[in-house]
Amino acid sequence: MDTAALFYGLVFICCQFTEKSSAEGLEESVVESECRDRYLWIHVRSLQTPRFEAKDVNGVHSLSEPLASRCGYTISTFRMDSFTTVRASYYSCFTQTQNDEVFTFSFNVIVSDAGGKWISWPVSAVCSGLTWTHREIICEEDYMEVNVDRESSCGGQRGDSGEMWHAAFSQAQRMASSVWQLMFLQSDGQVSSMSISEAQRGGYSLTTGAQRVALRSQYKQPHAQLTTVDGVPVEVVRVSLFFKKKMTVMMIDMSMACTVNSGSFDGARLLWDVPLVVPPLVDEGAVFESQSLGLGLEGVLLDEHTARTRGYSLVQRGPLVQIGVPFGAEGGYRKSSVVNNMYKETFVIFLLYEHVFSLLYEDGSIDTRHRMLRVLDTPLLCRQPFHLDQTVSDDRVFSVYLGNIPADVTLEDVSINGNQLMMSQSDIISPVFHNNGSRAYELRLPFEDAVVRWMYLGQGVVQYSIDVNFTLTIMPQKDSYYHLVSIKARALNTFPPEITAQCSGGGITFSVVIPPQAERIWEVGVGHEALTSEMAAQRGYRLHGDAFRTTLEVPAFSVGYTYDGVTLSNFYGTFRLLLRDSKTLEVQTSTSKRCLFKTEDMIVCSADGTMVVVTTPTATWPSVQPDRTTLLDPNCKPKQTDGSRVLFEFNLDSCGTRALVGESYMVYENEILHDRQLISDGPNVISRESQFKLTVRCFYPLSGINRLSVDQVFTSETPGLGSIKVFKSLKGASNLRIAPGLSGRLQTWHQPKLQNLQNLSVPNSPSAGGTGFTGSDLQTAGSDCGAQYGASDHQGILRGQRLR
Ligand SMILES: *[C@@H]1O[C@H](CO)[C@@H](O)[C@H](O)[C@H]1NC(C)=O
Ligand SMILES: *[C@@H]1O[C@H](CO)[C@@H](O)[C@H](O)[C@H]1NC(C)=O
Repeated sequence: MDTAALFYGLVFICCQFTEKSSAEGLEESVVESECRDRYLWIHVRSLQTPRFEAKDVNGVHSLSEPLASRCGYTISTFRMDSFTTVRASYYSCFTQTQNDEVFTFSFNVIVSDAGGKWISWPVSAVCSGLTWTHREIICEEDYMEVNVDRESSCGGQRGDSGEMWHAAFSQAQRMASSVWQLMFLQSDGQVSSMSISEAQRGGYSLTTGAQRVALRSQYKQPHAQLTTVDGVPVEVVRVSLFFKKKMTVMMIDMSMACTVNSGSFDGARLLWDVPLVVPPLVDEGAVFESQSLGLGLEGVLLDEHTARTRGYSLVQRGPLVQIGVPFGAEGGYRKSSVVNNMYKETFVIFLLYEHVFSLLYEDGSIDTRHRMLRVLDTPLLCRQPFHLDQTVSDDRVFSVYLGNIPADVTLEDVSINGNQLMMSQSDIISPVFHNNGSRAYELRLPFEDAVVRWMYLGQGVVQYSIDVNFTLTIMPQKDSYYHLVSIKARALNTFPPEITAQCSGGGITFSVVIPPQAERIWEVGVGHEALTSEMAAQRGYRLHGDAFRTTLEVPAFSVGYTYDGVTLSNFYGTFRLLLRDSKTLEVQTSTSKRCLFKTEDMIVCSADGTMVVVTTPTATWPSVQPDRTTLLDPNCKPKQTDGSRVLFEFNLDSCGTRALVGESYMVYENEILHDRQLISDGPNVISRESQFKLTVRCFYPLSGINRLSVDQVFTSETPGLGSIKVFKSLKGASNLRIAPGLSGRLQTWHQPKLQNLQNLSVPNSPSAGGTGFTGSDLQTAGSDCGAQYGASDHQGILRGQRLR
């Protein structure tokens, strides 16, 4: 088994100080300090970076760089909260040492209060109770430090640790005086020696206690060497301390070594490799024995159980110790932000590695405690949401899965085809939670929802589409990003509704069966207009039905019919329903029904320019013989007559028909006259010349008429609107009036026949049942007409009128 993960719990808290301010303005500034394992910990909360001063018998020393690092004070660069952390080595410059057992610290922490005023805050601590190993090496953020027991480490006698040291040792012996000397061994074999004061000027710091001596070096000093151990870069300072003790020259190996790799990330774990054996710290003649390996967080060792629970790993693999921390593990910090509409995050953790090992010699052993602090962080990781289209067309529901939503993100807003959803009341979005804290959302939206766009592709296939804009927001910093999803789905079997029709009593009855899903796709229309309940009410259609079936009853003579085959006994009326794609208005199918109806008094103005009139002239007095009536051209006689009624059918450009041009429509007008004849009335012979006169008119919208000037062939896009007026007055024209609804339009005509026309407008409609029409008939016709003609006239409605 090549796993050597020996953890040990360290119980070492000799004293703790927590100083909280009761002074005004310092509520949010808290200074805490604590004696920790081999350093004093000071923790300061303040908005502005605090300043630190160390105090000793010589006075106050401001701890700024480079003095702080050289003297064993680390103002940590690892600031994930708003705290500033300082770690002060027990062998820092201004710390009092009593017999290497009691360490007395004294500081001023200068903190700015809310008003920007700087307040000095004294911190003092006495730390003790520590058991030192023979040699301790710490690789801090800003320096490396070694401290050794002078007695047990006196290596002068062990002159067998390498050729180079041998040479150095003889040089030291030559130079040795009562003054202490540091000798740096360089990679090229050169040895440079310097006095302690020279070394201090060069950035090194030497502190001695009763039994121990500590040497500190900042990184990248001129005497440092960068080497590679088992593929890991290591910075090494090979240095020995020489001094004369009685007649003997003492030599202490004060070498330091720290890895300077920054760790890596494999997509799931932060990894940090450390060589198990760092050669400069191991004598060639000694037997190496590893005692324990441990992991810690922010300068504090963790017990094995805690480390395991958090998923940290420490595994020996070959010559390396591999440390791993899962992304997002407890103890680390996640930082997220939005960059270019992309969620990005990093994970950072501040680890402590400790290796205690022994070097076994023939005459005993030397223990070394080697510690390294390291900030590990991941690169900026993109967490792009992804979506899966899980729509099954047969379910007729859009189903979208939106995944990879980090735990600190909420779905703030969803808009579908530009319509914003109300998140609070929305039942179409539901969250999905994963064990690892990440989330997903599911959106389900029926095809039939009003916000869904659709298009009929033909053959019963409809394409539905949604563009969804998900707004995702990082909390609590409220940083938003968006994810767009476009989904199309095709559904089969959306066939057009079925329309059936049958003749019924006085009209035609249509039955429309619309499959429920097809409702929005199809529009049932009459001519260019959609069939709505308003339209039905306006035109006198009867529309009723339930969700599955609509029944439309269209009484004969209502707007929309065309007529043919008119005889005195019956005629054909045809009505057509259209089925259109309600978006493109493209006609898919049409259903028309032709039914036979009993002929009543009526006028038909066909689109081909034929006028058909059926009327009952005998209803007037004195009676008129139907077979002796003519049009203005006396050669135009009825097509059919019986005892009481006549049927005229003639072309608008024949039989003396007059044409009048209005602003928006043409009026064609003719008259049904009784033959001039002498009738005996008792003893008198009365000439009844044109006493009976019936005016028939057809109105056609001007815009719909095609008149080719050469052959004068009349065609109209739409049938005309007819009217019949009876002139049967014996009292003269004194009570002539213009029927409402037409009057306004008549006045706009420019024709010289205007006067004529007005004279023809005869009121005083006969009593009900008589031939003629009432003012309200005309008004209805007129307003319908106005509505039709006033608009851009795309209403291909066939018009016929029943005369009462
Ligand atoms: C979280 O779990 C889900 C479901 O198992 C997985 O799809 C996703 O990739 C995981 N996310 C992370 C960050 O590990
Ligand atoms: C998505 O929604 C956000 C916020 O409403 C908006 O800024 C963005 O332009 C939208 N994107 C698209 C493509 O509509």
